[in-house]
Amino acid sequence: MTGEAGAGLFAAHKPIQSAGARLEGGSSRHPQREPSSEAAPAAAWNERRGGEEGGFAGDDARSDAENARGDAQGNIGNTRGHTGSDSLDSIGNTRTNTRHEAPLLFEVNGLTKHYPVKGAFGFTKAVIHAVDDVSFTVRQGETFGLVGESGSGKSTLGRVLIQLEQATSGRILFRGEELSQMDAAQRRAARRDMQMIFQDPYGSVNPRWTVGETIAEPFAVHERLSAPERDTRVKELLGMVGLKPEWANRYPHEFSGGQRQRIGIARAIALRPRFVLADEAVSALDVSVQAQVVNLMQELQHRLGLTYVFIAHGLNIVRHVSSRIGVMYLGKLVEIAPADELFRHPAHHYTAALIASIPWPDPARKREFISIQGEIPSPASPPAGCRFHTRCPAATARCREQEPQLVDVGGGHLAACHYPV
Ligand SMILES: Nc1ncnc2c1ncn2[C@@H]1O[C@H](COP(=O)(O)OP(=O)(O)O)[C@@H](O)[C@H]1O
Ligand code: SF4
Ligand SMILES: [Mg+2]
Repeated sequence: MTGEAGAGLFAAHKPIQSAGARLEGGSSRHPQREPSSEAAPAAAWNERRGGEEGGFAGDDARSDAENARGDAQGNIGNTRGHTGSDSLDSIGNTRTNTRHEAPLLFEVNGLTKHYPVKGAFGFTKAVIHAVDDVSFTVRQGETFGLVGESGSGKSTLGRVLIQLEQATSGRILFRGEELSQMDAAQRRAARRDMQMIFQDPYGSVNPRWTVGETIAEPFAVHERLSAPERDTRVKELLGMVGLKPEWANRYPHEFSGGQRQRIGIARAIALRPRFVLADEAVSALDVSVQAQVVNLMQELQHRLGLTYVFIAHGLNIVRHVSSRIGVMYLGKLVEIAPADELFRHPAHHYTAALIASIPWPDPARKREFISIQGEIPSPASPPAGCRFHTRCPAATARCREQEPQLVDVGGGHLAACHYPV
């Protein structure tokens, strides 16, 4: 087992404390703002987006989210019984299960991203198969989780999805429109609609800029606002992420890790996007702080009708925030299923091994600890047939020769395995 997964996927078992406790760091210098004071700015924010020409129907989005919340509540009992961890339920309580009829935000077909590795004299000496022929959909209002060992292609897939990098081949439809066919103005509008929360917002912001300047930067690129308008928007955004509006004049180093992540979230939602990619957005935070930031993200999702792709190597947290989860292995999506279904009935042997390897918090419900044998092969020369065959206990000659396709194994549960578990 390689580094990240060893430290994360199989070790993310510490209980997550209940939300609503003190703000991360608990510094009296940076006290938590009362949540109720955020309601008014959120309403104003939604109104603005609803009124935009060609804008997202904020009310529709909200009602979808509210319905979804109702659905999710039906699942809470099940989730509790299964996890054996009460503290995790503080996140599970607000998980979004999107109604099946929610429209598609992304439709991804055959997406591939290869990186040529240059040798002497500029010749290509190898090709890294970071993402290989991946197809999936993301529905409006849902949280689609992505898990897999380090190097499996999660970040690359995320970057290509939001157009930070060009795909080698394949199609991405965003709200029914193919991104590669859009003209410059359409693509600019689409990119504005897709934002990202970084793993380390401190590393990705200028330490000499105030928090207000950092949050306002997207306005300078995309919107012409007067200085007072910009200040008002920054203060609204700070309130929405649970920070004090007067902190706009402070610098990033004055904040804790969790507070900096809240600033990163404020910046990500500043342009009223429909979609937010969270790539290991909480992985670097303490477990109790993770819960608070995740709860904030879920609250914003419900209030603003956001859709998330949530990448994390901590399987527990992905389970509790995601409506559906995709499992990546060596550039391939090997399984996609509703979150609870994936954990209860994994169909791919890789997923089963990942789940079996999560340390079990309740000693009364002991599980066999199964670690995945061997190292993940090089993405420059992925194994033929099923890419997992070099590590799979159930592999046969067929697995070594014939690539399994991602097919429905029942009720919208997709798996790419010749001999599902
Ligand atoms: N810009 C790049 N150039 C070359 N190889 C890359 C680049 N970005 C990622 N890779 C490679 O692609 C594979 C997938 O990486 P990544 O998407 O970061 O995986 P993950 O996020 O699941 O850890 C890895 O082998 C990585 O080394
Ligand atoms: S296709 Fe074969 S090697 Fe791949 S996961 Fe299924 S049983 Fe294992
Ligand atoms: Mg990554």
